[in-house]
Amino acid sequence: MKHLPLKSPLMTASGTSGHSNEMERLQNSSETILSLGAFVTKGITLEPREGHPGFRIVETRAGLLNSIGLQNEGVKHFVQEELPLLRNFDLPVIVNISGSTIKEFGEVAAYLSNSDSSEIISGIEINVSCPNVRQGGVAFGTDPGLVRRIVESVKERVDGRFLVITKLTPNVTDITLPARAAIEGGTDVLSMINTLRGLAINVDTCEPYLGNITGGLSGPAIKTVGLYMVYECFRKIPECNRREIPIIGIGGISNWSDALEYIMAGATAVGVGTAWFVNPDIFQMLYSGIETYIEKDGITVSELIGKAHERGKFSK
Ligand SMILES: Cc1cc2nc3c(=O)[nH]c(=O)nc-3n(C[C@H](O)[C@H](O)[C@H](O)COP(=O)(O)O)c2cc1C
Repeated sequence: MKHLPLKSPLMTASGTSGHSNEMERLQNSSETILSLGAFVTKGITLEPREGHPGFRIVETRAGLLNSIGLQNEGVKHFVQEELPLLRNFDLPVIVNISGSTIKEFGEVAAYLSNSDSSEIISGIEINVSCPNVRQGGVAFGTDPGLVRRIVESVKERVDGRFLVITKLTPNVTDITLPARAAIEGGTDVLSMINTLRGLAINVDTCEPYLGNITGGLSGPAIKTVGLYMVYECFRKIPECNRREIPIIGIGGISNWSDALEYIMAGATAVGVGTAWFVNPDIFQMLYSGIETYIEKDGITVSELIGKAHERGKFSK
């Protein structure tokens, strides 16, 4: 059994803080770095991808809609130019990967694992859930058989010391089906949720705002959905319930009580994305809010994991 070796339960959510340049600007002594347990990179693919035409992001009344289209310079560039910038970083680095075919996921993972800088990487997060790419993306994540095969292909190609995390899509009826498939494929950790597919139309031009027409919704609007999905996996999947397969809860976290809700639903750690665009101090605020809460009652974050499943047994 592999645990999440984190000093804090807070992580960045993939795609919301770049590959390395943006993070490299933060000093190791900064409050943000001290509050974080891990840094998760934006998604990497085998070959460079230009991403979608603009607009790529639109703010809606209840959240952010994005359709970046996995823009990145490809795994070779990442390993040569971007990954080394994280060498002196005091945080575990988790590299988020995507692919258009099952084979491509395995190839990206193998490239990372065999690279000279592989010691900088603590884990790989497999994105089987992007709603913004035509090939693969969410189509993989909604098919449990494909999820299992993608996880298997990554596990076969990576160094055993890499933590393998599978990131699930909320664009399904029953999240526990792809979650179980990822576990069968050998995932060490589950993360959920990616964005929910959505649309926004500009009534002045009568056109969708986004160049790609549809996008993925993130931010406070999706918190209850993500929370429910973490709760369901913790409740229905024995490996999650026994904490053999930890869950990283992601989606709409914007204050410390949101983070605690995810932990009480069954998450061991939480990822935060959109809220960081709004508030550059979000991580220290989450950290100090959680710290105040647990210190008040002399409990640990670990003791709170899944507490919402013990209704009535825990008085607080
Ligand atoms: C601009 C943007 C880019 C994203 N890029 C990725 C990505 O490359 N890989 C991935 O797995 N998730 C990606 N996501 C999804 C986030 O990691 C996260 O799952 C989602 O935004 C929900 O969390 P939040 O409400 O805290 O933002 C992206 C989200 C946003 C807003």
